[in-house]
Parts: sequence; C-alpha cells; structure tokens
Amino acid sequence: MKHLLKLMDLSKEEIYGILNMADQLKYEKKHNIPHRRLEGKTLGMIFQKSSTRTRVSFETGMYDLGGYALFLSSHDLQIGRGEPVEDTARVLSRYLDGIMIRTYRQEEVEKLAEYGSIPVINGLTDYCHPCQVLADLMTIREYKGTISGNKLTYIGDGNNMANSLIVGGIKLGMNVSVACPEAYRPDADIMKWASENGNFTCTENVLEAAENADVLYTDVWASMGQEAEADDRKLVFKGYQINDAVMEAAKKDAIVQHCLPAHREEEITAKIFEKHAAEIFDEAENRLHVQKAVLVKCLAS
Ligand code: CP
Ligand code: NVA
Repeated sequence: MKHLLKLMDLSKEEIYGILNMADQLKYEKKHNIPHRRLEGKTLGMIFQKSSTRTRVSFETGMYDLGGYALFLSSHDLQIGRGEPVEDTARVLSRYLDGIMIRTYRQEEVEKLAEYGSIPVINGLTDYCHPCQVLADLMTIREYKGTISGNKLTYIGDGNNMANSLIVGGIKLGMNVSVACPEAYRPDADIMKWASENGNFTCTENVLEAAENADVLYTDVWASMGQEAEADDRKLVFKGYQINDAVMEAAKKDAIVQHCLPAHREEEITAKIFEKHAAEIFDEAENRLHVQKAVLVKCLAS
C-alpha cells in the first residue's frame, strides 16, 4: 500500500490486512512487546485544522514504532502563506519518509501524493476521514466478532464521517443506513456507488434507519470549518440524535460509536453517551493501533 488517501482506493483484502495488523500491534502494546517496525523513520504531520486524537495517536504511534513524528502546523509552514502544495510535496519528500495531512480539500491531499515521492496518509478532509473509519471497523469487530452482515446506522450530517463510513461499511459487507435531512445527504457519487455495490439506504426518518441496527453512529452537526453555520444547523438537525427512542428501535445489544469530539444533547444525549462510553473510548483508543498498522503498511520498506 503506497498511500491512504481515501477508503475507496483500498480493496476489502487491504482493509482486513490493516485491521489484522492493528489487532497484532494492539496485542504487542498491551503485553509490552517491542514493535519498532519503523526504526529511524520520520513522519511529517501537517495540520490545517485542530486535532486531539489524530495528532496524539499518530505522534505516539510513530514513537512506539521506533520512528519520529514532526508536528507541522499550517500556521507556521510556508503553505499557510501560499506556497503551493506541489512544491511543499517535493520539498518534504527530500526530508521525510511519510506525510500525514489534515486539511480542507481532498484535492490537496491527492496533489501532495501526486507531486511527492513518499507515502501520504489522509488525517481528515471535508470529504472523508479514512483513519477514523478503520478504527471504527476494528472496534465493531472487537464487539461483534465479525463486521460483515451487521447493520450500521449513521444519524446526522452527511459529512466526511458519513462518506467514509458508507464506503468502509459497504466494502466489508455491512448493511448501511443513513438518516439525515434531505439537503445534507452524503456525497452523491458515494451513495450511488453504495446502492450499486451493497445494501444501502438513505432516509430522513431516524427511527426507520435505526430499526434493528447493530451499530449506531453519529457525529457533530457542524464540522470544522462550518462554525459560522452552527446556529442554523442546530435547527436543521434537531431530532437527528441518538437518544432513548433510537436505542429502542435498534437491536438490544447495539453498540454506539462516535468519532469525537461529541456535543452532548445535540447529536447524542448525555445519558446514552455515558452508557456507551466504554465502546466510544475503545474506538478512540483504536485510532492508535489502526494508524500504526497504516504507518507500517505504507512506510516499512
Ligand atoms: N476523531 C478525530 O479525528 O478526532 P480529532 O479531531 O481530535 O483528531
Ligand atoms: N465531521 C467532523 C469530524 C471530526 C473528527 C469534522 O470534520 O469536524
């Protein structure tokens, strides 16, 4: 695997390869077995948006693997002053072994990979969040034993999380249903692909989408970069929430996932969040293990 730009680029076998290696790395970490598979390698981490989980898990992940991670805020890089991504890619390729980037436009990530000569990992764009969904799939397998055949229901904004969950879920044989307002649907091409390649539905009806779900997933109503729309979105998304009624519609043993950060009483009630905190924080932990697997797959030569 050269890059991780979006899940659509990966085969089912490649995704399972990452998840299996993540399980192995999690085991090694828990048992204090050294796993310095990237001894002496360097990763540049470009951030144009805030982050807690992605930054800390990639940084400690590189440390665990025997490598070194550089935090590169776009406020300090010349890219923040207009240096083209094409040039940044060619320069950083001379210094580093890999780049992780969190930014707005997916095209920027693709360009970085095109012009650079080192692996590029997408740490979130407005379009998708592949690392998060790999951690989600890992967590679902831990709780449910298998991934295929489970029903995944996503409630809320048809955003980067929705896009990646649809692709990851459908590729691994999940039944995916999305509940969102008509004007906030996931990417049209992704929905078309999902309908043609698996069991996918999209509705405005939250309870209908949640019926018999094995996994209930939600994310913030206003993503990074949409802060100015936050008040309007609170009105539009009212009701697109994981709450008691939604849990009632799902299977009795349904798990709850949230990529975090969470806004209690908006997309999820505080009560349901705390009741399912174990699953949600296992999911957050799994970012570390799954990204280490991605790093090994992309950077180990
Ligand atoms: N879920 C996630 O990507 O969290 P951060 O924004 O804190 O990295
Ligand atoms: N949709 C959210 C995900 C955060 C991890 C955002 O883009 O802000």
